[in-house]
Amino acid sequence: MKGGMGEKVCLITGATSGIGKATAVGLASMGASVVMVGRDRVRGEAVMAEIKEKNANASVDLMLADLSSQEEIHRLADNFKEAYPRLDVLINNAGVIRSKRITTEDGLETTFAVNHLAYFLLTKLLLDMLKASAPSRIVNVASGEQRNGTIDFDDLQGEKGYKGAKAYSQSKLATVLFTYELARRLEGTGITANCLHPGVVGTNLGSGVSGIFGFMVRALTPLMKSPQKGAETSIYLASSPEVEGLSGRYFVKKAEARSSDVSYDERLARRLWEVSTELTKLPAYNL
Ligand SMILES: NC(=O)c1ccc[n+]([C@@H]2O[C@H](COP(=O)([O-])OP(=O)(O)OC[C@H]3O[C@@H](n4cnc5c(N)ncnc54)[C@H](OP(=O)(O)O)[C@@H]3O)[C@@H](O)[C@H]2O)c1
Repeated sequence: MKGGMGEKVCLITGATSGIGKATAVGLASMGASVVMVGRDRVRGEAVMAEIKEKNANASVDLMLADLSSQEEIHRLADNFKEAYPRLDVLINNAGVIRSKRITTEDGLETTFAVNHLAYFLLTKLLLDMLKASAPSRIVNVASGEQRNGTIDFDDLQGEKGYKGAKAYSQSKLATVLFTYELARRLEGTGITANCLHPGVVGTNLGSGVSGIFGFMVRALTPLMKSPQKGAETSIYLASSPEVEGLSGRYFVKKAEARSSDVSYDERLARRLWEVSTELTKLPAYNL
């Protein structure tokens, strides 16, 4: 049981590519039972085969869900609960950047839906299981872009004016605000919630960006940090005894860091929580 992760069940979203895939590979190599969430069976099975090729005894599974669909997130949570008796680590990692405003089947702007609301909804649907498995951990992949973010409650969905970069930084600030609020609400439960910036990593993230900026991102991708390096902080937060019991923090390069001033605004975090509860049509839990 390398790294003490044997028998730990880790659910990782966006595990078919980039940082999520490297996180799945890393945790599987530490002996964890890894459940990958992907939206494409072929890509998912290819990653599973890669993991198995390195280690025939690795425990790895694939669950399919398009995280832009709230119905599919509900189905994912139900399927997971049916298949697994416990959940030790939930890693919300899936993310997108979109140059053009695209709406989901729920009528929501895609960046906000995938990068924030999916994290919020999946976490809430799995909280009972995380509580029953405590001590357990929630790891949310944010971004250094949270620094440029503001939460525009008058136009959360970019209906009045959409810019891909603004939507992305808003969604990543939302991830940090959500993590801090979640940690406050989970105090005393044995579940920790932390978030991170993985660095500037060469992945498929830029594929949704068009124009000169998209061209530049794709051209520079090979020069960026490798996904393996980019996954280090996620793996650290998921597995290290050093962060046992630590909650409500933002990490960069496996060290605690300060996020933007606005991310510490508790009123803002509570308001975002309430709006997210409405947008995910969840009953107002006592959490
Ligand atoms: N790369 C960076 O420099 C960087 C910097 C800061 C933060 N981040 C964050 O790191 C996380 C991982 O991104 P990455 O860089 O590894 O990018 P990536 O290679 O594009 O991986 C993103 C993952 O999210 C999945 N995904 C996207 N939309 C989805 C949906 N609707 N339903 C289900 N899965 C979906 C993708 O699935 P498919 O394989 O099906 O597309 C993929 O597995 C993201 O949250 C990103 O914002 C990245």
